[in-house]
Amino acid sequence: MHPVSSLHERAVSSRVLIAAELQELLDPDPVPGYDVEWLPSDAPTPAGDYVAIVPLLTRWIGGTEQKNLPDLKIVANCAVGVDNVDLVAAEMRGVIVTNTPDVLTDATADLTWALILAVARRLKEGERLIAEGKWTGFHPALLLGLELRDKTLGIVGAGRIGQAVGRRAVGFGMRLLYTARGTRREFEDQTGARRVDLVRLLEASDVVTLHVPSTPETKGLMNRERFTVMKEGALFVNTARGDIVREPALLEALASGRLAGAGLDVFAEEPRVNPELVAHPRAVVLPHLGSATGHTRRAMAELAVKNVRAVLAEEPPLTPAYR
Ligand code: DGY
Repeated sequence: MHPVSSLHERAVSSRVLIAAELQELLDPDPVPGYDVEWLPSDAPTPAGDYVAIVPLLTRWIGGTEQKNLPDLKIVANCAVGVDNVDLVAAEMRGVIVTNTPDVLTDATADLTWALILAVARRLKEGERLIAEGKWTGFHPALLLGLELRDKTLGIVGAGRIGQAVGRRAVGFGMRLLYTARGTRREFEDQTGARRVDLVRLLEASDVVTLHVPSTPETKGLMNRERFTVMKEGALFVNTARGDIVREPALLEALASGRLAGAGLDVFAEEPRVNPELVAHPRAVVLPHLGSATGHTRRAMAELAVKNVRAVLAEEPPLTPAYR
């Protein structure tokens, strides 16, 4: 549908904002009939008569931004997480918010496993040993890691990604515990997973992996008290959101040996990563790569603009972030 204007109606703008970093992943004319302005992530969110915005997860779309965009119909977040959008403000203004679920599930679950394996088998220390020229040759007791078979994987948040991580665990011969709002019957049947409360999961798991969204309830969920109940020598992995973890408490748990290792793809103050984590031999840190495959990033960008096209054509969004 092309924007309409008449003498009696206020002209409806045809301007759409899309994160400039998505340009190379999208068709040249992603929203036909509309003028796309490519917005670099280091530029502030402009004010104006834009009808849609496709932001990256690094752009805060709060109440003020939405007020400055009075014609906005949709925030099509190019991420599954929507913690960069003020959902309450959006709902109050009648702005639709969409995200990109499903298309990134496998890529993110794969990367979670890359971290689990990297930490369990001490890849960072091994790499360093060679890079620093300190490897003196094969030694039967060098960098002994954790054998995953018959160990317990604790999945905090068995949504789409958490379940995909759990299904992969079956191939590694792991037992599964999970937390979720309700029982995930099909997942339990497929994997033998058992639903428990968070404390039980932390006490019993050899590897704990986080897959909850960042919300007011989950921010700071992994604090000192919760790290303290974890099994001695457990591994901790986070590919969800950095602010779910209190990083000083995580560092303490690593220093005390309570945690034998951590694999982190997300951080509280991205792109700043606590230098102590970067330097820690048992912490593998990655620059938010969970969904970073060409296939998935293209699918995310395409899904975001499909939501824009649908909403501008007055059709229901494909993947609303709330209903
Ligand atoms: C998301 O989509 O929320 C991820 O963090 C980036 O893929």
